[in-house]
Amino acid sequence: MPALQNDLFIRALLQQPVERTPVWIMRQAGRYLPEYRATRKRAGDFLTLCKTPELACEVTLQPLERYEFDAAILFSDILTIPDAMGLGLQFSEGEGPRFTHPITNANDIDRIAELEPINELEYVFDAVRLIRQQLNGRVPLIGFSGSPWTLATYMVEGQTSKEFRKIKTMLYKEPQMLERLLEILSASISAYLTAQIDAGAQALMIFDTWGGVLSREAYLKYSLAPMQQIVNKLLQHKTAVEVPIILFTKGGGTWLPEIAATGCHAVGLDWTTEIDHARASIGDKVALQGNLDPTILYGTDDTIRTEVKKVLDKFGKGNGHVFNLGHGIQQFVDPDKVAVLVDAVREFSPAFHQPD
Ligand code: CP3
Repeated sequence: MPALQNDLFIRALLQQPVERTPVWIMRQAGRYLPEYRATRKRAGDFLTLCKTPELACEVTLQPLERYEFDAAILFSDILTIPDAMGLGLQFSEGEGPRFTHPITNANDIDRIAELEPINELEYVFDAVRLIRQQLNGRVPLIGFSGSPWTLATYMVEGQTSKEFRKIKTMLYKEPQMLERLLEILSASISAYLTAQIDAGAQALMIFDTWGGVLSREAYLKYSLAPMQQIVNKLLQHKTAVEVPIILFTKGGGTWLPEIAATGCHAVGLDWTTEIDHARASIGDKVALQGNLDPTILYGTDDTIRTEVKKVLDKFGKGNGHVFNLGHGIQQFVDPDKVAVLVDAVREFSPAFHQPD
């Protein structure tokens, strides 16, 4: 494998000096891009796109053809593990994910406890290998997974939820059942991410999209503790070069010291968290990734440039910042606005990396 030509992203995650702030955006390969919509149409549906390595590779690279991003992210979904566990994943147009066999009782959990889902996920590792080959060292490739808690919410609710009635009922009525489910998921996710590293992933991100719906006590026990187990496993996995780990809990802004104490290399911030406060609180331990409000991309070019500058100003001078949105880009964003964002980061950020 060729050496990385652009390793700004990896250096920033390791809090090493960089010439400018690296930038990528969550969901950078997605429906806002007409070329993505065309490939998905060719695939027939979203899951086929995920499960066909050549197509997953194609859409992974699409945003890099348009914009000067400093990282690629594997095109896949966090729900590949529950799908491999036989829960019957379906994505219907405009509705989001749905499971035909959600987890409802202890028998369901016994059943999935017997499985080795990563044996069914070879298509993901094939995609990682193919993308690395095609990238040919241009930029690093990020692998990812959902957090145990976030996957459990989809597996128990059977779909995206607003109130989380079923999983919270499990939490407060039958906590041992939830703990068992989370243990199974922690083990599967550790194996899944380790296999992504072995296939060629050069950084990893854990998406804890729904950690923020928990109380502090419940977050620490049911979301952060299972993520800690995964971080421990990944840190034990010996690799030739360090593979940095990013933890992102949406709505996790008040638990940053606990998240940073897991031993992860970087913490993702949503746009409700002040990046200057985050830096003051945990910036000595970890790098920070974020955190422009994704809806700012609906604004004018001037507004986008001003808001990009504000995020850079708030982080301030020095190492350990990866520019990103605070959550995934939305499907109705005009692709030209992403170019405005990337250009603004490239124009303004070198000043934050020069000696005083
Ligand atoms: O960032 C990237 O470009 C890589 C690809 C990626 C996707 N999903 C592709 C996708 C990543 C990293 C994810 C993660 C993911 N998936 C999360 C965590 C991040 C977050 O947004 O909080 C979650 C919660 C999911 C589950 C999921 N997948 C939902 C709820 C949906 C439907 C919501 C929606 O936006 O419609 C998906 C579908 C999905 N995953 C799409 C894409 C590009 C849209 C599917 C389509 O093409 O119709």
